[in-house]
Order: sequence, then structure tokens, then C-alpha cells
Amino acid sequence: MEKEKEKDRDNEFEARISRRSFFHITGWTGLGAFLASSGVAAARFFYPKILYEPSSTFNAGKPEEYAAPSGNEEVVVDERWKKSQRVWIVRNKEGIYVMVALCPHLGCTPNWFPGEVRFKCPCHGSNFNPDGEVVAGPSPEPLYRARIELASDGSMVITTGLLGIRRANLQATKKILGTYWTEEEKEYIWKPPYFLKLSA
Ligand code: FES
Repeated sequence: MEKEKEKDRDNEFEARISRRSFFHITGWTGLGAFLASSGVAAARFFYPKILYEPSSTFNAGKPEEYAAPSGNEEVVVDERWKKSQRVWIVRNKEGIYVMVALCPHLGCTPNWFPGEVRFKCPCHGSNFNPDGEVVAGPSPEPLYRARIELASDGSMVITTGLLGIRRANLQATKKILGTYWTEEEKEYIWKPPYFLKLSA
């Protein structure tokens, strides 16, 4: 009888020990997991959030490599940089400017239709004239311009990206047909560094 009581006491003692070590282990494991996840969160907080994009400046060659409009043509839109740099180089009768191939509505890539003299967005139907003004569709702003400057060797340096794109539409004027440049904005977009005037 006495032996059985002693055995029960031993069993109870062992059960208590294993319960304690179980709580011990889970406690430390939980603390370890908490510290590890806090460490990861802290590291992510201090790690800079950088958006890696292709270089925002590129050399587009010399102006004479781009065809000028002839006859009744208003502009010639060159698409050679559309895929790699997401811009069109547009030559009108006075000079060259660079339009960013990104729809200001929700960021789709419009296409150029020379027959209709329009840029058209395939997503929700915004249409832009060769100056980038909205002539149809939901885009709240004209197409953005990128900087275009001449390097010392006479080649054109184009700057896109946040610094290069001038959201010249400072006070968008919503008219019946769409969104046009204001007079103030035209002061910007038809002057350097957004317009490269070429001598005839
Ligand atoms: S993204 Fe171009 S019209 Fe909506």
C-alpha cells in the first residue's frame, strides 16, 4: 500500500516536471519566434524601399536621325524607344519633343495611329492628340512630357522618370471634349527643356 502511494507520488512528480518542461520549451520557442519576426520587421523598416527602374536618362542620337513631317503631315511619331524607354520622339515642323507612353488614367501604354493622328489607350479608350491633349476618354491629364536636351556632340539626351517628367498640367482645364494644356502649361511644354527647336 505504502509502495503504491510512493509510486503515485513519483508519477505525479514526473508528470509535473514534464508539464513544466513543456511550458518551458514552448515559452522559449514562442519568445524566439517573436524576436525573430520583430527582427525581420525592423530590418525591413530600415532597408530603403527602392524601386529599381531602367536608367532615366538615355542618349537618343542626333535630331537628323528622326524624320521630319512632309506635305500635310502634322507630326512624325518615332516609336524606336517605346519598348525600352517608354517614350515616343515626336517631330513637328518646328522641332522635337518627347512624350511618355503612359496613360495618365491608370497607366496603360497607348498606341500611335498615324492615319487618325491620335494616340489611343487600349484600356479605357482615352484618345490624345499629337500634343498629348485628351480628346476623348477618361484620362484626367494630357500625356506627360520628358526632358530633351542637346549634348555637346549634338546628340539628344532624354530624361524620363520622376525628375524628367514634368506634369505640366498644373491646373487641368476640363473642357467638354477633354483635357487640354492651359496657357501657363504651354509656356512650359513648348520651351526647353521640353521642346528642342530645330532651325529649318
Ligand atoms: S488606362 Fe488609359 S484610358 Fe484607362
